[in-house]
Amino acid sequence: MAKSEMNKILVTGATGQIGSELTIALREKYGNNNVVAAGHRRKPSEKLLSTGPYETIDVRDRESIEKVVREYGIDTIYHMAAILSATGEEKPLLCWDVNINGLYNILEIAREHNLRVFHPSSIAVFGPETPKENTPQDTILKPRTMYGITKVAGELLGEYYVRKFNVDVRGIRYPGIISSETLPGGGTTDFAVEIFYEAIKNKRYTCFVREDTVLPMTYMPDCIKGTIQLMEADFSKLKHHTDFNLTAMSFSAKELADEIKKHIPDFVCEYKPDFRQKIADSWPKSIDDSAAREEWGWKPDYDLEKMVKDMIEKLQKKHEAGLI
Ligand code: SER
Repeated sequence: MAKSEMNKILVTGATGQIGSELTIALREKYGNNNVVAAGHRRKPSEKLLSTGPYETIDVRDRESIEKVVREYGIDTIYHMAAILSATGEEKPLLCWDVNINGLYNILEIAREHNLRVFHPSSIAVFGPETPKENTPQDTILKPRTMYGITKVAGELLGEYYVRKFNVDVRGIRYPGIISSETLPGGGTTDFAVEIFYEAIKNKRYTCFVREDTVLPMTYMPDCIKGTIQLMEADFSKLKHHTDFNLTAMSFSAKELADEIKKHIPDFVCEYKPDFRQKIADSWPKSIDDSAAREEWGWKPDYDLEKMVKDMIEKLQKKHEAGLI
């Protein structure tokens, strides 16, 4: 499909942490009415509703997706709907159902209607046997979480549709994503977002992982930039499709708290690890994303210092306006 034809987009999971900002960015780029936001349970924001079409979809219900695809003449789906790692450990069957059957529905619809698909993967595809530092692109994938298992299967299923049915499917292994618009829900890296809200509102945060927990992270503007960049890349030039490693920075929970303290000196962070510690411990500390850099030009703009400064400025303003 030529680039000029790609202009009717559906975003599933549009009320989620990434989907909500991705939808707005896509609307700005391709036109408000060309980007349909689809949510399920979470209430859509005023911004999402006022800037373009909104539909309710349960990705487990193929008919509900197909109806929207037909009605709007969709040619590209950003399939962001998913159950994340921590919720996945509490509700493993729901995680399998949404992440696997949901993706299968999307891929089948893409095959039948000749659509392009973006499907995010995650650092959760890695496990304790994977090299933890500078984790290679092609390495051991033996996750211990249901979420990770669905993401490995999702990468493979997407690649299967590429090779077997010639469907254009692409995906990134997102690290922890930090953002100021919509709170994440049910993830292990959520502490790196919650900490900002609590620092600004209460000057205290009880972190659910140990202070020495190091994880790879990326700031939302880079995440959005990279996602759209991958979707705009020449498909025939890509060697990988559904599983690009990607990162911008790595830091420990304490290093993040210390950086926040530079802006809010009386901020106090305590550490009380819960079941999510084990999940975090099974994931890499840093990522080798050279394939993404070489194949489609990934290059992040934000490091820890720049990200923290921007997050605090944005959330400070929201706090002053009584929005958080
Ligand atoms: N942020 C996600 C999670 O913690 C990782 O993909 O579940």
